[in-house]
Amino acid sequence: MNVRLNVLIIGGTSGIGLGLARHYWEQGARVAICGRRPEKVASVPFARDERVSLHACDIADRAAVARLVAAAAGAGGGIDLLIVSAGQYTDAAAIARDRTSTLPVLRVNVGGLDNAFSAAADTMMARDGGKGGGHLVAVASIAGLQDEYPNGSLYSASKRAAIAICDAYRKALAPFGIAVTAIVPGYVDTARLRELNHGDASGKPFLMSEAEAVQRIAAAIARRDERCVFPWQMHALVKVFNLLPGFLKRARKK
Ligand SMILES: NC(=O)c1ccc[n+]([C@@H]2O[C@H](COP(=O)([O-])OP(=O)(O)OC[C@H]3O[C@@H](n4cnc5c(N)ncnc54)[C@H](OP(=O)(O)O)[C@@H]3O)[C@@H](O)[C@H]2O)c1
Repeated sequence: MNVRLNVLIIGGTSGIGLGLARHYWEQGARVAICGRRPEKVASVPFARDERVSLHACDIADRAAVARLVAAAAGAGGGIDLLIVSAGQYTDAAAIARDRTSTLPVLRVNVGGLDNAFSAAADTMMARDGGKGGGHLVAVASIAGLQDEYPNGSLYSASKRAAIAICDAYRKALAPFGIAVTAIVPGYVDTARLRELNHGDASGKPFLMSEAEAVQRIAAAIARRDERCVFPWQMHALVKVFNLLPGFLKRARKK
């Protein structure tokens, strides 16, 4: 990998995003890590390296994201790779308890993704006197491919939108040499997934470790895949599930 690769990861302060930040740092890249609370990684050893910068930014704030991207692009170098791993989750039970739980899902998973892609595309299209070049990546979810996602239809819809946003930007930015990859993972054993499952996600089908997910994602990015769905077993399960009649789909619990 080119030592000068400049990577910005929004949603890099924990889980998959932090794993990817470590991966690119180990490869010699300069890595800008962003989240609302960058102090979460202040004690992580690699995050103290001079090639790593920490940024506080809410991806739902379009103006703040534009400032973040400008800061990460630096003086003339530009961003080579933007990864958006920021994500929010809600499900039917949470919405029933608190209707305001829907807004962060839409503002982060949909609006926030567009804020980030839009700002990064501006800087990438203008690179090298208009020659362009670069790579945009979103971490969506296999929930976005599944009909009747149990208890999580809004999350599922937001991730379906994330995949569609990737498709739209890919078509628009191809003439500028900018690749767009939708990462579509099944269950990954992150602290956040465990938190959503009362501390233990081991019952989730085809659960994958964070380290393995990071390797798969990095490989898909290196290949400049348009879409990377994994693990294949979960993808196959979702395809079969989508063929079931509606009453059977709705019978499945979370
Ligand atoms: N784990 C899974 O099984 C799984 C499966 C499929 C897809 N995914 C997707 O993968 C992504 C990462 O998931 P994860 O499990 O690694 O969860 P995570 O550890 O909670 O990571 C989410 C990241 O997003 C940041 N974030 C949240 N809201 C933000 C906002 N408004 N502005 C900026 N940053 C924000 C968080 O940092 P701060 O708290 O510092 O803001 C954190 O760094 C998510 O998009 C998720 O939907 C996860």
